[in-house]
Amino acid sequence: QSLKNYNTFGIDVSATQFIEISTVHQLKDVIKENNQKLPLFILSGGSNMLLTKNVDALVLHINTKGIHVVDENEDFVWMEAQAGETWHDFVLYTITQNLGGLENLSLIPGKVGSSPIQNIGAYGVEIKDTMHSLTALNLETLEVETFHNADCKFGYRESVFKHQLKDKYIITAVTFKLKKAPHLLHTSYGAIQQELETMHVEQPTIKDVSNAVIAIRQSKLPDPKEIGNSGSFFKNPVIDKTLYQSLLEKNPDIPHYPVNESEVKIPAGWLIEHAGLKGFRKGDAGVHTKQALVLVNYGNASGKELIDMAYFVQQTVFEKFEISILPEVNII
Ligand code: EPU
Repeated sequence: QSLKNYNTFGIDVSATQFIEISTVHQLKDVIKENNQKLPLFILSGGSNMLLTKNVDALVLHINTKGIHVVDENEDFVWMEAQAGETWHDFVLYTITQNLGGLENLSLIPGKVGSSPIQNIGAYGVEIKDTMHSLTALNLETLEVETFHNADCKFGYRESVFKHQLKDKYIITAVTFKLKKAPHLLHTSYGAIQQELETMHVEQPTIKDVSNAVIAIRQSKLPDPKEIGNSGSFFKNPVIDKTLYQSLLEKNPDIPHYPVNESEVKIPAGWLIEHAGLKGFRKGDAGVHTKQALVLVNYGNASGKELIDMAYFVQQTVFEKFEISILPEVNII
């Protein structure tokens, strides 16, 4: 079975076996039946991975559906979504219910079930800010367990599911604690403020913020249906303030975000652009023309060609700025 239509980079590799999963019950049965014959490979939205070779495994495409209210009080609603729900559709649904908290995370590709693994984030909000808990299938016991927010050890594009618990659980559903009106908006990002001004919105609602985010993302980030990509390919590096000070002398306009007393975060997109690579292309692999943090597949690039492009970008940035940038996507 080809995985080309199941990864947003559009890489054409094949899987030994491929099963579409629509219930947790079926998921357990399939795992029991496989009885460790083939290694398992969990495929959710395929929006944060770069496949570089055939997947010699039983690929489980998680497609469980359902959204329901778990609990509510005067101020909040606890809403659970099954892992296979499309992230953006779920966000839009919470907005139609006038529930706040996820609007800044509009239009992020992928599915609900993978959103906690890398603590997806955009425009000053991460899912750790609203995620209440999740359920996950323990692959050893085949019991479903609950993880509360603190159990997930969230960090910048990080969680326990990328480290200690890697390959030990399959996330089955995620519950968010969403705010009823009046909403607390996160509009401090310059790009959001500008967009709201362009939209002539003075008293923004969560719908307006969502629309602003959608407009910004559409203007900078390529649509995977048109050009294969996985969003930001690299993480924004955190560097020592002394290094930042010395860079500042040569590059007075270098953007930065404070991290702590001694470190700052630098946008990798800026570094790549100022290393001269924005829009760089070799064959069908390239650096996006509008956002240099995104690597793209213009058609038939192989995983190998994209990896080579990634190394070249890392190397060029290091030569120019002495900063190492590390991939954010999972390279398989
Ligand atoms: N910049 C450039 N050139 C570029 C790209 C960016 O100079 O080609 C500069 C921008 O001008 C701006 C700064 O870098 O001053 C930051 O750019 P932007 O606001 O576009 O955000 P980012 O740091 O590149 C991060 C996330 C995105 C998220 C945006 C908005 C990471 C790795 N990426 O990108 O997340 O949407 O902020 O919050 O943290 C993703 O993870 O897939 C993703 C798209």
